[in-house]
Amino acid sequence: MSDGADRVDAVSAPGYFISFEGGDGVGKSTQSRLLGQWLGELTGREVVLTREPGGTELGKELRAAVLHGQDMDPRTEALIYAADRAHHVASLVRPALERGAIVVTDRYLDSSVAYQAGGRELGADEVELISRWAVQDLMPDVTILLDLDPAAASARIRRQHDRLERAGAEFHRRTREAFLARAAADPDRWVVLDATASIDDLQAQIRVDVAARLELTPVVEEAEDTVAAEPDDGFDDTDSAIGYTPGLGFGPGGAAGPTTGSGAA
Ligand code: TYD
Repeated sequence: MSDGADRVDAVSAPGYFISFEGGDGVGKSTQSRLLGQWLGELTGREVVLTREPGGTELGKELRAAVLHGQDMDPRTEALIYAADRAHHVASLVRPALERGAIVVTDRYLDSSVAYQAGGRELGADEVELISRWAVQDLMPDVTILLDLDPAAASARIRRQHDRLERAGAEFHRRTREAFLARAAADPDRWVVLDATASIDDLQAQIRVDVAARLELTPVVEEAEDTVAAEPDDGFDDTDSAIGYTPGLGFGPGGAAGPTTGSGAA
């Protein structure tokens, strides 16, 4: 791909970019929400939770078309995901990273390589090239792959299956293999975890791996004379304190609200 003057170096942005990947029904949205909440409390930074497809208003329309619209050719499908990603990065992800936020996305470019190249059998290099062009090479600092047998994952999905989820067992087997191969080829970026673990155990492992890979600076609380700081005991009691809406962020204080300008909504 061209490394021309339009290439924007992701590494220069002061924020952190974390993506979750894996098949349908592996628990990415739960785990990304829990991680985002913890990261906000740990670092005091703004955290933006988002997803693909559908992390923006335009993205919601593209999501509806690609998941619930008429059937389409694989190349059309690949281009819709790439268009969603281009707008998502330009209007929401990159501005957040530039102001120092931690962005946690439920799916990113690797989903296109796994689903459209692995699943739909388009060329992996071409699919990646289209998305790399779309996002001017912005890649996550860390990518967490939640790996699960597709049959077990499918059984977890209680609602009606969408167009991609209906693509068949062989499609989902190829998609899983593509994720695993991609992760094996770039162990510096990827963390692969067994998604059969309980929610709490999986989240604990994710926190260990993310903290080990990112240089996160814990927020230093002002020392209080009489009140001891509450120990961080994990998961349950914090869950309801912080609201989550895709595309919205939250800070350590728990107030949910828009974190981006009008272009991001
Ligand atoms: P997701 O939002 O994870 O599914 P849900 O919220 O319905 O559980 O993803 C929607 C579907 O889109 C999923 O089947 C994976 C697929 N997908 C691709 O095929 N290519 C892509 O680039 C992305 C981001 C998703």
